[in-house]
Amino acid sequence: MKLALLALLPLSIQAADIPRTWTASAVAAFEVPLAKPITAPVYLSEAAYYQLPERSIFKTYPVYHPSREPAGYMDWLKQQEPQIVFNPANLQTEADWLRAGEQIFNSPISFGPVFFGAAELRDPAFYEQTRMPVAADGTIPFARWVVRRKGEVELGSMGCNTCHTRVMPDGSILPGAQGNNPNDRQGAWMLRRAVKFAPPAELLKRVRTFAQQFEVPGLANDPNRAAQSMSLEALIAAGEAIPPGVTARAHTSMLLPPQIPDIIGVRERRFLDHTGLVRQQSIGDLMRYTTLVQDMIGPTPRVRYSDAQLYALSLYIYSLQPPPNPNQPTPLTARGQAVFQRARCGSCHTPPLYTSNKLMPVDGFTPPAAHRARFDIASTRVGTDPRYALQSRKATGYYKVPSLKGLWYRGPLEHHGSVATLEDWFNPARLKEGYTPTAYKGPDGRAASVPGHEFGMKLSLADREALIAFLRTL
Ligand code: HEC
Ligand code: HEC
Repeated sequence: MKLALLALLPLSIQAADIPRTWTASAVAAFEVPLAKPITAPVYLSEAAYYQLPERSIFKTYPVYHPSREPAGYMDWLKQQEPQIVFNPANLQTEADWLRAGEQIFNSPISFGPVFFGAAELRDPAFYEQTRMPVAADGTIPFARWVVRRKGEVELGSMGCNTCHTRVMPDGSILPGAQGNNPNDRQGAWMLRRAVKFAPPAELLKRVRTFAQQFEVPGLANDPNRAAQSMSLEALIAAGEAIPPGVTARAHTSMLLPPQIPDIIGVRERRFLDHTGLVRQQSIGDLMRYTTLVQDMIGPTPRVRYSDAQLYALSLYIYSLQPPPNPNQPTPLTARGQAVFQRARCGSCHTPPLYTSNKLMPVDGFTPPAAHRARFDIASTRVGTDPRYALQSRKATGYYKVPSLKGLWYRGPLEHHGSVATLEDWFNPARLKEGYTPTAYKGPDGRAASVPGHEFGMKLSLADREALIAFLRTL
């Protein structure tokens, strides 16, 4: 890790090293075009972008489970002075920049209740009923307390930590891994409670208005429009159906939500998002990706990360490492590796990255000739559920080939997180009608096959077991 970072970073970072995030030419080229007939988004001009105020990064404090909070903690927080911690003038060494990036990773961009608010995180029942994970040290790494005005302690969330942090079975905290906070289940919990206080018709209107943000401009028969005729109960159930590790992030979908990717190792990926919407050719592209998903949301963006903040954050993300893998090579995993080679998994999941870094067209989409010249596109298809790649705001017509690294610590798998385990992924039963997916089951939780990607399904049970053991060593 040290070597890689030294190669990446000049010895001291000057303002001139920081890429300018939102230039007209970079913005024109950083995305793979959307599959027609979806309307391409119109982004802020360079001048308008740089007129947005920069976000202030305040000092934040850990959130504890109510039973684990140090005595007098909230009173102590009330006495803290507001403190802005990010100031690029104070950052010199590589370590300074990475520490600053870590602060931004955990720094909230929202101070009102989203999946949860301050009251929920002070209520033990909320943890029990939503099965929110608590780390071994008693903290909840998905949110932070913030003091922006003296005497006022706010709960902040929707930094990267809310979705890209995993509490492992042993209670350790793994930043960057596929998150496991039950976001949407918590959102549904808050709605169920609101039903007791607000008139149902008013609540229904609010939820439907919220759901409108997922509608896809220009798309006829948009599946997201179904939310406008669903009952309040069905909409709440749709949120409850989304398991940890999958989430309805802005510009994704409430009814077709995507798996949260593991971003440890993201530096090696040439395309970002399941549909490969954003090309990553430089650190500037990751900076553009981040401001796109955090700041360029809604009709009138109001605030942005500064270029220096995005740079620090991206350096931190590039520095993230997986934990030591407890699954060491054995004769069984050696046999699994031979199965991997025989089954030609490596033609797409090519070692050492375990991805070819290519885009695969989905059924129902024919790549225009111009795409083949510009992007690395595979000549085959895998036949998985094409809807997210055709009927969402990120619909490029492709899924990228995901890396198989880190499979041992993450899940659920597949672009919708339909599949809980590797055993389920290679189980031929998932192709059949009447199958009930083992993780995300769709908004109504009904039986539905998980089609496509039939590789490895015809193996003997012993070979399959060996293959899976090998995959867990990556
Ligand atoms: C509300 C949850 C949420 C938050 C907050 C969030 N992400 Fe994500 N992130 C996701 C989901 C879901 C996807 C997958 C989107 C898709 O495929 O369409 C994703 C995808 C990504 C990817 C693409 C990785 C890949 O391999 O395709 C990167 C990079 C990323 N997020 C970085 C960040 C950073 C940096 C932050 C904080 C500034 C952040 N995210 C905040 C949920 C979130
Ligand atoms: C022709 C290309 C191709 C081949 C061959 C292939 N895969 Fe894949 N694999 C993909 C694509 C594309 C996806 C993502 C599909 C989706 O999410 O819709 C994927 C997904 C996966 C996943 C889920 C990863 C995750 O993070 O959700 C695993 C595990 C996997 N493949 C293992 C294998 C193994 C093992 C083999 C060989 C037996 C194999 N693949 C052969 C293209 C391929």
